[in-house]
Amino acid sequence: GAPVTVNVSKLEPGQQITVEWRGKPVWLIRRTDEMVAGLAEMNERVKDPNSEEASQQPAYITGDTRSIKPELVVLVGICTHLGCVPSYRPDVAPEDLGADWLGGMFCPCHGSKYDLSGRVYKSQPAPLNLEVPPYRYDNDSTITVG
Ligand code: FES
Repeated sequence: GAPVTVNVSKLEPGQQITVEWRGKPVWLIRRTDEMVAGLAEMNERVKDPNSEEASQQPAYITGDTRSIKPELVVLVGICTHLGCVPSYRPDVAPEDLGADWLGGMFCPCHGSKYDLSGRVYKSQPAPLNLEVPPYRYDNDSTITVG
């Protein structure tokens, strides 16, 4: 499939947009400073905090932000369990997701929880973090996925 170029200049802090790449939904989320700061707190609660499973991101994606620039994360929006599309739930500790929830992605099919870097919580049906597709910045406002 062809690479997809996305203008991210209008993406507000906290906002998520979806583009299609190779027939898959790809999410771009502009995280707030608070969201980025909260990622370190999640390290002990996720299965693969340092993105060691090589299949799930390019080699240049490291650390708890799993992104080139900390504020903007790019993820394939397909659950690593059985392929449902999770929902973006940026709200902290909503009633249905529990007090340990700091915002992230929730899969309605079997309840897998991912943090705001797409890292899967421990003890979830999903085995792996959400995939980070290959992408690059063409300039400050434009990203090419693929
Ligand atoms: Fe997402 Fe099963 S497909 S938890």
